[in-house]
Amino acid sequence: MASSLPQGTVRTVTFASLLFLALIAGVHGRYRHPPMVSFYSRECPEARGIVQKIVKSAIERDIDSAAALWNLHYHDCFVRGCDGSILLESSYYGPAEKESGIPDSPKEIAYDIIDEIKDAIEKVCPVTVSCADILTLAARDAVVELGGPGWKVCSGRLDGFISYANESKFYMPGPDANYRTLVKKFALKGLTEMDMVVLSGAHTIGKVKCSVMESSLYNSSGPCGVDPTLDPTYAMELKAQCPVGSSNLVFLDPTGGDTSVNGSGTVPYPGHRRLLATKSAGNTVDKNYYVRVSGKNAKKGSAGSSDQNLKVRNSKGTLKSDRNLVSTKSGKALVNREAGNSKKAKASAADKENQPFFHDLVKSMEKLSTLDDPSSPGGEIRCNCRSRNVQTAPPPVGY
Ligand code: HEM
Repeated sequence: MASSLPQGTVRTVTFASLLFLALIAGVHGRYRHPPMVSFYSRECPEARGIVQKIVKSAIERDIDSAAALWNLHYHDCFVRGCDGSILLESSYYGPAEKESGIPDSPKEIAYDIIDEIKDAIEKVCPVTVSCADILTLAARDAVVELGGPGWKVCSGRLDGFISYANESKFYMPGPDANYRTLVKKFALKGLTEMDMVVLSGAHTIGKVKCSVMESSLYNSSGPCGVDPTLDPTYAMELKAQCPVGSSNLVFLDPTGGDTSVNGSGTVPYPGHRRLLATKSAGNTVDKNYYVRVSGKNAKKGSAGSSDQNLKVRNSKGTLKSDRNLVSTKSGKALVNREAGNSKKAKASAADKENQPFFHDLVKSMEKLSTLDDPSSPGGEIRCNCRSRNVQTAPPPVGY
């Protein structure tokens, strides 16, 4: 039916129906619509398939793409909601989020994949699918490719107009953040302490620059300058990979991807045999991050409240912020839960397949991926994910 109507008529009808839906459903921040999985099923039914296909082939070309996409998505959602603001290049309004220079700034490879997807989708459905939606879908598909769970991705986001480096510096927690700061930074985004611990589990894949760990390896208060919370054997391994001044990258969680990872010789997640055959250690989404972070000898500290003072020892968390997850009683309990160490998890046969981590990750990712910032001034469907459509860019009132 629609194909026999002139293009302009279809667009007017679509716009009118969206406006009507927006009016009956109330305001939805920068969503064009109440967010829904089927948002593009009429306007661009090909969109989800294109994202999935390009993500898959990007990961086949370079497995580091998956972590880079997940990290990019997190950075996007933490500043002004998931609005593609992280994708914008700096402009005359000032340096953009991607130029913030913070230690976990997403890697360029992820931006290139988003461009590739956008180009492919534009050819089929011009100016229809937002960059924000593309990034959100791509991150989910990347995690699934590396053996993680899939979560529901609603669409209908608009691309934001504003991207400021200073906002990234303010909102993104640093790699040395203590537990309280981590909880606070996530709370600013409406995320709970449990969300924070569960989402930190994204460090089950990906790599970190040696420079980020230098102070933990060489300038801390433990023997040979090593951070006392860090497992000494793991610290030696890290020092070997990260000599002083090194520009190397090391895995955040160098486990997974082989059948001996649990020491059990069993395939940890039978649904991903193909993946296990091709993916290497360090590139598998699994609960082993928590097993490593949990450490062995955390004892109550000598002072302070029970919830703030556990001495961390022998943690194999690569970042200080990872190790700090077990520096409080509640954090340690959550880490043990995700590691499958709690009595309840042990009693459950499902524990073998990364539960309850996968279940919890789905819930927290659904929250992260729908963060919005209704106070931001509107949005658009960008033609190019790296820049605003000039004709719709607002003047920088109040910024
Ligand atoms: C809890 C606070 C967090 C801190 C302090 C933190 C910090 C970091 C740091 C320092 C890196 C290394 C970056 C580099 O050296 O290039 C990193 C990597 C990464 N982070 Fe986080 N992160 C946090 C939370 C998250 C969350 C919530 C997610 C996703 C949901 C995430 C996903 C990732 C991924 C996938 C990587 C690997 C990136 C790659 O290899 O390209 N992080 N993070």
